[in-house]
Amino acid sequence: MFQSLTGWFQERLPVSGEQISELTNEPVPNHLRRWWFCLGGTPAYLFVVQIATGILLAFYYQPSPETAYESVRRITEEVNYGWYFRSVHKWGATLMIAAVILHQMRVYFTAAYRKPREINWMIGICLLLCTLLIGFTGYSLVFEQLSYWGATVAANISDMIPVVGGLGKRMLLAGDSYNENTVPRFYILHAAVLPVLLILMLIVHIALIRIQGVTDFEFEDEKDSETKTFNFFPDHMLTELIVGLVLMVLLSALATVVPATMGPRANPLMTPEVIKPEWFFYATFRWLKLFSGVFAVISMGFIVFIMFIWPFIDAWLRRITGREDVHVWIGIVGVFALVGLTTWEAVVAH
Ligand code: HEM
Repeated sequence: MFQSLTGWFQERLPVSGEQISELTNEPVPNHLRRWWFCLGGTPAYLFVVQIATGILLAFYYQPSPETAYESVRRITEEVNYGWYFRSVHKWGATLMIAAVILHQMRVYFTAAYRKPREINWMIGICLLLCTLLIGFTGYSLVFEQLSYWGATVAANISDMIPVVGGLGKRMLLAGDSYNENTVPRFYILHAAVLPVLLILMLIVHIALIRIQGVTDFEFEDEKDSETKTFNFFPDHMLTELIVGLVLMVLLSALATVVPATMGPRANPLMTPEVIKPEWFFYATFRWLKLFSGVFAVISMGFIVFIMFIWPFIDAWLRRITGREDVHVWIGIVGVFALVGLTTWEAVVAH
């Protein structure tokens, strides 16, 4: 029975197991045995979890100001396992953003963005921005007080950007202020436009990695090893599978121990005493509070632009200083600033 079934498929799809493993079996450099070099696989894995749990939530979520909050409440309190999938989706978002940031730090500190990988770094920055935007639009869907006021504050910040800011605000809110089309707009951005954009950029990101290969590194303890590579299949595949399993357990544990809750329903007439974005915008928010309006948003945009073209600035710095490690020192200052501003925003009320 099984033989005839495989025979039936073989006749129509004449691809053997060996051919598949030959196709995927790229030799992987030895340094990828170290987990921090494989951090790129983690956001990819979590993104799949987000799509699966997001589809389940979409069966019950109703994107309009009148129904959004009540539908999320129903998912959390009444739908079978709704609380679990909502909590996994929420924790998955947190872990995915953390994993993207850690992956970017790994790429940065090992200078893996240098020639010929400059374009992939720039695609990476777009991936980071896209991931953050998916997070932002997601939190706006619940239609609780912080969803409403967070979106209003973000739109007002956008309005401060000279020339294009007003357009950005109107595009975000689907009008000059929050209205009945705002939640549907966030929903279509969150569940369709941005994920599709992310997938398209990921295809290019991974294709470039396949074409260019990953950057070669050699550690002291690997100098004497006879082979410089190991097999993608099954060795590296198994490592990734174990990482996936550990993440699944971690996500389930977090979802069960600290499940997603709900704040008070959005009330356009009552500004909350404290408006805080999600943790991944703490540093940006603190920066915007530290400096005055227009300067704050322009300097923020400038920092993102510097990050975007960093491989070229790094090449220039190396040329004029003759040193190979300038990026490490700048990176350390950057990480301290990021952690410092995030902690600052987390511990103070205003
Ligand atoms: C959704 C987000 C992302 C995913 C799923 C992803 C995925 C990956 C994967 C699987 C690799 C192979 C090596 C590794 O695992 O480290 C990789 C490498 C790379 N990524 Fe990403 N990435 C993402 C975001 C980023 C960001 C934000 C940046 C930087 C701004 C970036 C820049 C790079 C570069 C330059 C490489 C080549 C590294 C090397 O040659 O060693 N990626 N990425």
